[in-house]
Amino acid sequence: MTKESQKTNTMTAEETARQNSFIELAKTLTAQKSNTLGRPLTYCLTTFGCQMNEKQSEVVAGIMDEIGYHRQDNEEADVVIYNTCTVRENANLKVYGRLGHLHSLKDKNPDMKIILFGCMMQEPHVVEKIKKTYPFVNLVFGTHNIFKFAELFYDMQQSEQQIVDIWEGTDQIVEDLPTERNYTFKSGVNIMFGCNNFCSYCIVPYVRGRERSREPEAIVKEVKRLAADGVSEVMLLGQNVNSYGKTLENPVTFAQLLEMLEDIEGLKRIRFMTSHPKDLSDELIATMAKSKKICHHLHLPLQSGSSRILKVMNRRYDKEKYLDLVDRIRTAIPDISLTTDIIVGFPGETEEDFQETLDVVAKCGYDTAFTFLYSKRSDTPAAAMENQVPQDVAKERFNRLLALVQQEGRRRSSRFEGSVQEVLVEEESKEKGIFTGRTEYNLLVHFPGNESLLGKYVRVHLDECRGFYYLGTLEENE
Ligand code: SAH
Ligand code: SF4
Ligand code: F3S
Repeated sequence: MTKESQKTNTMTAEETARQNSFIELAKTLTAQKSNTLGRPLTYCLTTFGCQMNEKQSEVVAGIMDEIGYHRQDNEEADVVIYNTCTVRENANLKVYGRLGHLHSLKDKNPDMKIILFGCMMQEPHVVEKIKKTYPFVNLVFGTHNIFKFAELFYDMQQSEQQIVDIWEGTDQIVEDLPTERNYTFKSGVNIMFGCNNFCSYCIVPYVRGRERSREPEAIVKEVKRLAADGVSEVMLLGQNVNSYGKTLENPVTFAQLLEMLEDIEGLKRIRFMTSHPKDLSDELIATMAKSKKICHHLHLPLQSGSSRILKVMNRRYDKEKYLDLVDRIRTAIPDISLTTDIIVGFPGETEEDFQETLDVVAKCGYDTAFTFLYSKRSDTPAAAMENQVPQDVAKERFNRLLALVQQEGRRRSSRFEGSVQEVLVEEESKEKGIFTGRTEYNLLVHFPGNESLLGKYVRVHLDECRGFYYLGTLEENE
């Protein structure tokens, strides 16, 4: 049976109640199975891609936990789930590679269930390939119907056939589903879904659908609940947070939303991602400058330094506008840390265009820049462009860019060497007894500590900058 369903316009509160009833049904099934087997049932969930995927995985994990499954890291589990990404081809290839391995695990345990969801599943050619080449996958769904996971899971448990449920789009935002947070003291918070920008290289608008903002009241309520629950740092998530609220019945700007969050008790740090340079307003810069909680860090994707390429990319700013924006930000918030994303080898990129990118990197003083080789994504306008850059040329430019980015990053980040910074302690590093924390500027610091510091704010002396991170020591009086 292949189940294809259309978008519905059910009221969201009704939908939450409906899904809760499926959670109850699935719970009973789990208890019966677990009784028969005489052991708890397990699941393994892997997330590819961005923080929005991480956040949606928390919903799936929350529902699995609620249903009665125990999470484990090892894929020899009763249920294996992948939340997929397709922003670049290698994200795609990773999933296909791992499916081969899952097949062999399933040979050993035929009762094992395999679930694929997320961005990659919104591409029709991917779903065709899974139906044909990977029939042992039990359930496939996309990005628009994650809220329906309990129902899909319950259906899958009763079906011998592969279930495929992909929606082309949705206007629903379902609130209040169970979630299992990755950290107790920090959390991502979706403020909007989808993207309307259609940058010519990018597949996200096709797989995530049109831009939809959550109501500010729902966001404030969620952040208040998180803060009451011990979360002191939130990361507001959206593909283009600067256009938040434009499509609401009562429009609200992103800066106004930030102001609504400012006074929430217990909340200490507010971060957000991603800012599109074309929509970054002076109002937002002013709000950041006066806020006591918004971290002085901005991720401001450049993509290219060439005005000609930016136009073909459909980014709707040029080199001068970008540099002017950076100037205005640095004037208002002198200690701001800037990070960026850059694509190398976009169709038609010449050496001169590339030099413009190097020029912007040299001028902007990024703390970190994420550099990507252009990857052709099916059905995007750039994929049809004729003047694709040969791989070896792109690779050579990529290496030159990386060298500059690293040199500049080291120079910029070392500005804090010798200072004392407040860090939020996040986890124990791979080395026992060494803990990792993050400064307001999003820089990582490793220092000797103990478990009691997890989730706390401590003052750390930054002894030595190692490029993207620091080695430090706790201040004596901590
Ligand atoms: N909404 C964010 C970006 C989300 S995707 C923004 O507009 O800034 C994250 C990054 O992946 C992008 O900033 C871009 O640098 C990179 N990316 C997206 N599509 C790509 C492609 N086809 N090839 C290479 N890199 C790509
Ligand atoms: Fe992709 Fe552009 Fe939307 Fe970012 S703003 S998700 S790069 S289309
Ligand atoms: Fe990937 Fe989807 Fe995020 S394509 S980067 S997981 S929005």
